Amino acid sequence: MAPQSAGVVRTVVRTATAKDLDLLVRHRRLMWEAIADFSTRDHDAADAVYRRWARDRMRSRRFAGFIVEVGAESVASGCVWIMDVQPRPGRSGTAAAYLLSMFTESDHRGEGHATRIVRAAIRWARSRGIPIMLLHASDFGEPIYRRLGFERTREMRRSLVRAPRHKARSSRKTPRRATH
Ligand SMILES: CC(C)(COP(=O)(O)OP(=O)(O)OC[C@H]1O[C@@H](n2cnc3c(N)ncnc32)[C@H](O)[C@@H]1OP(=O)(O)O)[C@@H](O)C(=O)NCCC(=O)NCCS
Repeated sequence: MAPQSAGVVRTVVRTATAKDLDLLVRHRRLMWEAIADFSTRDHDAADAVYRRWARDRMRSRRFAGFIVEVGAESVASGCVWIMDVQPRPGRSGTAAAYLLSMFTESDHRGEGHATRIVRAAIRWARSRGIPIMLLHASDFGEPIYRRLGFERTREMRRSLVRAPRHKARSSRKTPRRATH
């Protein structure tokens, strides 16, 4: 993709390749660490599963990562996954784009990187004919998504399993509205 601004240090949003999976996994873990309180063991297990999950979907072109580079530094990333949804009146097709794993390094926040990523993800999904984008917003992310036209829905959820014992400590925060 084209440079976002000219100057001494160039800011570029580029599409991730399989070589970027380590970065995408690291940023996703940092995202979860910022918004919830899981154990190292939970994170390690989730990292391994997410890496395989993302790799497989990247191969089948149903998943894309976007990385913001400032000079040689990768400072932010976010991903989009094309998922199946049920048909409904008023919507064409049975695919939706799900935005996930949004993270900006703390010393680069407020510089518009997440906004750049969401715009790139929207362009990517639109160019594939996907009619809608969904996400779960953290408190950090909600104002950004609202500004870009996202609105609250009435989605509800209920866990169908008992929480594993190592997650059940009362000190644990649970993610309230987390992109996952
Ligand atoms: C949410 C997050 C990805 C936003 O990244 P970002 O690159 O700072 O976002 P942008 O620069 O595009 O948007 C900045 C907005 O964040 C807020 N912001 C501004 N400076 C900030 C700072 N230093 N630190 C945190 N948030 C800041 C403001 O609402 C700002 O809006 P503004 O343009 O009106 O000032 C980032 O805060 C983050 O990684 N948070 C932890 C993980 C997380 O919550 N991920 C999102 C899951 S849905």
